[in-house]
Amino acid sequence: MEQVTKYLIIIASLMSVELTFTESKYEAVTNHIRYDYIPIFINVCDIEDRRSRVHCYCDSNKPKLATRADCWVFSGGITEEDPIWPNFSSQTEIEHLTFNVRSDDALTFVPAKAIVRLDKLKHLTIQFGTIKRITPYAFTNSSTIRQIVLKSNKISSLDKHSFSQMMMLSNLSLDDNQISELKRDVFFNLPNLHILHLSNNNLSLIHEGCFKHLNNLIELNLDYNYISVVTREMLEGLENLSRLNMRNNKLTMIGNLAFTDLWELKELMLDNNAIEFVSERAFGGLAQLRRLTLSGNRIATFYEDILEHITGLVDLDLRDNLLSTISFETIRPFLENDKSISAAVYLEGNPLECDCRLSWIYALRNETRHNSLRGALEKVSCVVDTALERRIEEPDDAHIEAANDNILSDDNYEYDYKEDYAERVKHKMSKAKKLTDIPLEMLPCPKELKETIEESYGHPVQNEIRLKAFSKVTRISPSLSLVLLLSLLF
Ligand SMILES: *[C@@H]1O[C@H](CO)[C@@H](O)[C@H](O)[C@H]1NC(C)=O
Ligand SMILES: *[C@@H]1O[C@H](CO)[C@@H](O)[C@H](O)[C@H]1NC(C)=O
Ligand SMILES: *[C@@H]1O[C@H](CO)[C@@H](O)[C@H](O)[C@H]1NC(C)=O
Ligand SMILES: *[C@@H]1O[C@H](CO)[C@@H](O)[C@H](O)[C@H]1NC(C)=O
Ligand SMILES: *[C@@H]1O[C@H](CO)[C@@H](O)[C@H](O)[C@H]1NC(C)=O
Repeated sequence: MEQVTKYLIIIASLMSVELTFTESKYEAVTNHIRYDYIPIFINVCDIEDRRSRVHCYCDSNKPKLATRADCWVFSGGITEEDPIWPNFSSQTEIEHLTFNVRSDDALTFVPAKAIVRLDKLKHLTIQFGTIKRITPYAFTNSSTIRQIVLKSNKISSLDKHSFSQMMMLSNLSLDDNQISELKRDVFFNLPNLHILHLSNNNLSLIHEGCFKHLNNLIELNLDYNYISVVTREMLEGLENLSRLNMRNNKLTMIGNLAFTDLWELKELMLDNNAIEFVSERAFGGLAQLRRLTLSGNRIATFYEDILEHITGLVDLDLRDNLLSTISFETIRPFLENDKSISAAVYLEGNPLECDCRLSWIYALRNETRHNSLRGALEKVSCVVDTALERRIEEPDDAHIEAANDNILSDDNYEYDYKEDYAERVKHKMSKAKKLTDIPLEMLPCPKELKETIEESYGHPVQNEIRLKAFSKVTRISPSLSLVLLLSLLF
């Protein structure tokens, strides 16, 4: 009996050995089958297949733990249908996702099939790709994305609703692309968009009302484009805009009330355009404006009341224009603003004429407590005519007396009038001297100039002071005239 049991036990154990053996064999077979026929998710943070066209480096390789993924897309013409995209559901915690594209045509679309699987995605960057066009709802109406950066992608067209239905989107950068036109309704239902960058594109056509859904936009960069006109209709709806950068475009004039709907605008940058004309009410409505930069344009005249209602202006840049003079009246509103704040007006690089119309600069330089303003004023240079040049070289009283009655001889230089205007200005500028290096009493102040200056000061007391200030060339000592001028200025 005992032997029978022993025998049975041996058989049983043998059977179980056999059983486990076949079981493991079976497992190996099914595994093999699964791998071949049932789709499995590969971990996008741990792609072992060297032939894969996408490789991602993540802050964690474990499934569903990565929050940042830096993905590289290699050449090979990956398509929107590629099986790799749905595999992003292996890492649903990704918040920061970047695609760096390594060669032309490696990525020509926004990988919507990946984005749609990422419920926590906050920042999306795609750079150096060749995405030519952004299609409607390209970002799958993501309700979590806060920032989209699509720098350097050769994007040339934006479809209607290409950026839309993204409740959290706050920053959008499309810098360094080839967008030539902004249509209406490209930006749609983006209630949180605060920053929009479109620098260095090919923009020349901005349709009326194309920003009208961006009521919460705070910063708009349109610099380095080909925009030649700015109108009120174009900027419609930007009622919360605080900063507008339109540097390096092709603007030739600023018409009346172009920015008037931008009630909250604090900084307006219009440098390096070709602006020749600024209308009298060009900046009308910009009650909040603090900084206005217009350097590198072709402005020859600046209306005296252009700045009149801009009560908050503290920074005015008019460098490198064609101004032949600038009156104290023009910048008076600016100087009357809050003096506790460091204000500065920049005028260097203009072919200003050295005459008594600029004497306010001496006074202001001596009076101001702000180094920035003093420094800026000391850099102002003006064009010296030959008579003045002689006087500076050999100052003597006779010359100074003569200066008073001198008619300003503007065009003493031998210009070739066929020369480009800019060339002539350059020639003129080569004769420029630092204004404050010239003694105030040497500045010529012909009679008719004095009269027009006096006319522009309405108040009788001011008139009197002005009169004395400007007759400094004769009797009143320079220091006294300064004091008088200062009492007017402040
Ligand atoms: C994940 O990627 C692998 C390899 O590219 C692919 O075979 C598989 O179909 C993908 N999974 C899904 C769900 O698409
Ligand atoms: C996004 O929203 C639009 C408009 O509501 C809808 O037509 C479109 O199908 C949505 N797209 C996705 C991918 O959900
Ligand atoms: C948007 O950009 C600004 C300035 O570049 C940055 O300070 C801010 O953190 C960004 N916001 C988001 C949500 O990415
Ligand atoms: C950019 O715009 C100009 C005209 O505004 C055009 O001649 C040029 O071909 C455009 N370039 C690209 C890359 O679209
Ligand atoms: C402008 O921004 C302020 C806060 O920055 C906000 O309270 C207001 O609603 C915004 N205005 C509009 C028209 O969206």
